[in-house]
Amino acid sequence: MKNKILQLSAFMAFVVFTSCKNYAQNSGVAQKAYVGKEIGTGFDAKIDKLISQMTLEEKIGMLHGNSMFTSGGVKRLGIPELKMADGPLGVREEISRDNWSPAGLTNDFATYYPAGGGLAATWNVEMAHKFGTSLGEELRARDKDMLLSPAINIVRTPLGGRTYEYMSEDPFLNKKIAVPLIVGLQENDVMACVKHYAANNQETNRDFVDVQIDERTLREIYLPAFEASVKEGKAYSIMGAYNKFRGEYLCENDYMLNKILRDEWGFKGVVVSDWAAVHSTGKALKNGLDIEMGTPKPFNEFFLADKLIAAVKSGEVSETEINLHVKRILRTLFQVKAIDGKNRAKGSIATEAHYQDAYKIAAEAIVLLKNENNALPLKLDGVKSVAVIGNNATKKNALGGFGAGVKTKREVTPLEGLQNRLPSSIKINYAEGYLERYEEKNKGNLGNLTSTGPVTIDQLDPSKLQEALEAAKNSDVAIIFAGSNRDYETEASDRRDLKLPFGQEELIQKVLAVNPRTIVVMVAGAPFEVEEISKKTSALVWTWFNGSEGGNALADVLLGKVNPSGKLPWTMPKKLMDSPAHATNSFPGDKAVNYAEGILVGYRWFDTKKIEPLYPFGYGLSYTSFAFENAKANKAAYASGETISVSINVKNTGKTDGKEVVQLYASKSDSKVTRAAKELKGFKKVFVKSGSSQPVTIQVPVKELAYYDVASKKWIVEPGKYTLSLGNSSRDIKKEIIVNIK
Ligand code: BGC
Repeated sequence: MKNKILQLSAFMAFVVFTSCKNYAQNSGVAQKAYVGKEIGTGFDAKIDKLISQMTLEEKIGMLHGNSMFTSGGVKRLGIPELKMADGPLGVREEISRDNWSPAGLTNDFATYYPAGGGLAATWNVEMAHKFGTSLGEELRARDKDMLLSPAINIVRTPLGGRTYEYMSEDPFLNKKIAVPLIVGLQENDVMACVKHYAANNQETNRDFVDVQIDERTLREIYLPAFEASVKEGKAYSIMGAYNKFRGEYLCENDYMLNKILRDEWGFKGVVVSDWAAVHSTGKALKNGLDIEMGTPKPFNEFFLADKLIAAVKSGEVSETEINLHVKRILRTLFQVKAIDGKNRAKGSIATEAHYQDAYKIAAEAIVLLKNENNALPLKLDGVKSVAVIGNNATKKNALGGFGAGVKTKREVTPLEGLQNRLPSSIKINYAEGYLERYEEKNKGNLGNLTSTGPVTIDQLDPSKLQEALEAAKNSDVAIIFAGSNRDYETEASDRRDLKLPFGQEELIQKVLAVNPRTIVVMVAGAPFEVEEISKKTSALVWTWFNGSEGGNALADVLLGKVNPSGKLPWTMPKKLMDSPAHATNSFPGDKAVNYAEGILVGYRWFDTKKIEPLYPFGYGLSYTSFAFENAKANKAAYASGETISVSINVKNTGKTDGKEVVQLYASKSDSKVTRAAKELKGFKKVFVKSGSSQPVTIQVPVKELAYYDVASKKWIVEPGKYTLSLGNSSRDIKKEIIVNIK
């Protein structure tokens, strides 16, 4: 068993532009296409020479971990270890070489960036690119070669313990955020390691569960972001997941690693295993794995260590096979200038510039869900006191739970954000309100891969409740910070339900009853059942595990310095059982799990089955209002290789400048195959000044309208009529355009 429990305890910018960015000018709004730089083959002669000088043991030393986060190098030939760091939230603190305890360094403080769900909620590809470049610089400052990021598995169930780390339930949004992130990261002479490939959508039984997904669903929902990461982002590495897919572990899955990843997509980088996800020697290697990483045990006991040397000596594995994997690793090391690298990016870490990058992303990630009678932004005239209620007002989330976190010197909490931003004349009355408490006997559940998440104590402490009600009563305005945290939402276990933990529901209802001027802020990475609260409160704001500057960004949204522009990257159901994996009773399975809802993941299910969500995918309010005008396509009919260009004017009809996301969904009513009611096929975030208009153009390559045909193994664009719906959420469609495909 992977002993990562120790993780619980601790828990410029010199940019070298190596990728090419294409700028297409359309209707006044520049559109950037992010395309990564392919791994070069120019080093091949040098690589062949190095390989010819290496012993078998030296070669095999490169194919497995020789410490917790490095694989072996060959010093005498100038080949360095390949140095990895965990990543989605920022560069993880240095871990000891042979166990999970922190190395105890003083120079490994880093910027904590918003978690994946937050980044996706920006619906802003430029933010994703900034996220990548900023993080890449931090990685280089720590002298690493590879970041174990981004994590892009599809959010299949809202219960998923890693929903906060992942990006979306939608494959299109997922890939459009993942690719610029990868491109930005790799501009800094480092490798992205895109994880967890693939079909790793639950934590329950993740070590062995055999995931069954029909081929069309695999291609249309679970693979597109990985495919785009490889084909467009040119990711230099991929992490094989823990679980099985169609009977084979993903780190020894010939279909997924050899056939799809390499043969079909042309992947040239390295496949790294998840930590201790390898189960065989010759089979894993032949089926596509390049580097085995893992958790504490003597590194020579790994499957791709002494056992592999023996397998070569016995003739089971050929040395030519070994050379193939070594060559892949050497190529990536040359590519990121880890070998022979002149002018390799040096990076910078935890700089003010990086905190400001985190701030900008955080500010665009916050989603305004309800705002009755303009309760927000808070008007401070006459306000002398503000009650700040809830453990989440002070809870930090850079570290916590099971899995990678960031050791940081800056994490501005919501309370600190308000203290920083409110005028000093306003008194803040803080009350913890609820206590973060777990049942003692279930504490050990954290990280227990076969159980569901931690069991919380949901009774309020009477004195804490009283204190909160007093604070609310005696203040002009109350703000409750509720939701979850990274101990509750965590890798290695899924949540048991979508109820608010720690008695928060009761606390919120009672505070609302004593002070009607109460704002509810949810700090969480995944959906919760908040229908009752949403009905009663006049203002509901959603923020995330939102990075080093999260508290400042939140205060700026609450006070109106930032006009919110985040949109939900997943559906908020009214109740868990409305979600597809649960409505079809196909979660979490036992030894196997069958994704019975097929392609109808997320809003595809809710829209097709006509189930009303609490808040739909793509939804989020602004302090201003927008009108969509003059929607048109550039032609009436298109051939299959063409691109549909849809233009629309976004008019800011309110009094505040703001950003809006134009979302384009496609539907085909008379399709000969089952189709979702609608599918996201384009989006664009645009800034519009109050009273003015901005033209927006969204390009939809006709091939995006294709479905995957299992019989012919091809993407097929059916001819005929398609409806393109333009809106600012999946349920708020403002304009429809019909186009014909020839
Ligand atoms: C996680 C990976 C992570 C690795 C190393 C695994 O348990 O699934 O996402 O990169 O550990 O910490």
